[in-house]
Amino acid sequence: MSFDTTNQNKSRQNLESFDEIWVFGYGSLIYKVDFPILEKRPASIRGWQRRFWQGSHDHRGTPEAPGRVVTLVEKEDAVCAGIAYRVSHDVFEHLDHREKNGYLRYEIDIDFDQNNDASNDASHKALNSITGLVYIGLESSEAFLGPASEPSIAAQIHQSIGPSGRNDEYVFRLAEGLRQLNEEDEHVFAIEKLLFELTGRSSNS
Ligand code: SIN
Repeated sequence: MSFDTTNQNKSRQNLESFDEIWVFGYGSLIYKVDFPILEKRPASIRGWQRRFWQGSHDHRGTPEAPGRVVTLVEKEDAVCAGIAYRVSHDVFEHLDHREKNGYLRYEIDIDFDQNNDASNDASHKALNSITGLVYIGLESSEAFLGPASEPSIAAQIHQSIGPSGRNDEYVFRLAEGLRQLNEEDEHVFAIEKLLFELTGRSSNS
């Protein structure tokens, strides 16, 4: 089973039309930066919330036993914090492959977090917001699993493992990354807490 969106993403935006390209990361892109970046800034987007509603058939699960990873779900007044990376055009070759499990690239308004910013690029520090790109698995994505109770999401994650490792590791590393951004994400932290109970792990281990 494959939900490979690589080819679709290639033709979604004309990357050459961007003077500079920022990609907004809100999930594994917060803690796993396996691509070259030109600049990195804490940022947020409006009108979206993070939810463990996307299936992972390739990284944190398998086609037979998918794991769960985050996607974005529209919600009025919601603000979702993450990290914006300024990257060169060719990085999308790698990102499109990495995010191929049902995620499509969308244009999005990214607000830079001026109070939480160690950026040393003075020319960009003055910038408040910019149109960038983000990977989202919408309800129409074939890899979209949709809502479930937090205990059943945690139970599924607890059992899942894929080529990139254990699914619970994804949650622990994301929660840690969000704490470093001073972001209180109740959904992520509730699932992390349930996984601490299921694994016997604590926040210090
Ligand atoms: C993202 O991190 O921005 C997309 C979802 C993921 O790769 O976990």
